[in-house]
Amino acid sequence: MTTTRRTPRFRIRRMQEADLLPMAGLLQRLPPADRWPLRHMAAELHRPLGWAWVLDVWEAGRWRLAGYLILWEQGELLHIANIAVDPAHQGQGHGRRLMRVAKAVARRRGMKGLSLEVRVSNLRALRWYLRLGFQIRRRIRNLYQTPQGWEDGLYMVLEHV
Ligand SMILES: CC(C)(COP(=O)(O)OP(=O)(O)OC[C@H]1O[C@@H](n2cnc3c(N)ncnc32)[C@H](O)[C@@H]1OP(=O)(O)O)[C@@H](O)C(=O)NCCC(=O)NCCS
Repeated sequence: MTTTRRTPRFRIRRMQEADLLPMAGLLQRLPPADRWPLRHMAAELHRPLGWAWVLDVWEAGRWRLAGYLILWEQGELLHIANIAVDPAHQGQGHGRRLMRVAKAVARRRGMKGLSLEVRVSNLRALRWYLRLGFQIRRRIRNLYQTPQGWEDGLYMVLEHV
């Protein structure tokens, strides 16, 4: 028996003002602890040395916003300030595709690698970053204020993009 896995049709592009409305819906579908306020997302449209990307999937005859990637230039490293994929579209490789964009931006700007922070209890994301080659550099106490209280973060780096 053969199984075929359909590759979803997708595109990755820079975020625009018009994406903020569907972005509000996407943010609502993420777990509260991983949810940025919409005004933070809106500010990313104008950040110097920052780049906001979105991923659309083709669904029911139109493009739908299904993921995003927020990048900040921080010294020699490109910092992944936020990355998320709509829960309905996770596990289809979109996270990896967004990560490839981050690497391409870092390479294009001659940067040494990628960095990010993750909540210690976000085990799925943590394992995923480790599989992608990120290494834990340090633990940062009380980095996040979540609906459950303050939580530590892990600072991770991927060298050699
Ligand atoms: C982390 C995140 C961006 C990954 O996006 P994604 O589109 O699911 O990523 P991919 O499909 O490329 O990879 C998912 C991996 O998790 C695995 N996985 C494990 N459990 C899974 C599940 N229940 N559903 C989907 N994938 C699952 C997949 O097999 C895949 O493994 P692989 O990379 O070794 O093949 C996404 O889970 C997400 O948006 N999480 C919520 C927000 C978040 O935690 N962001 C990070 C904040 S630091």
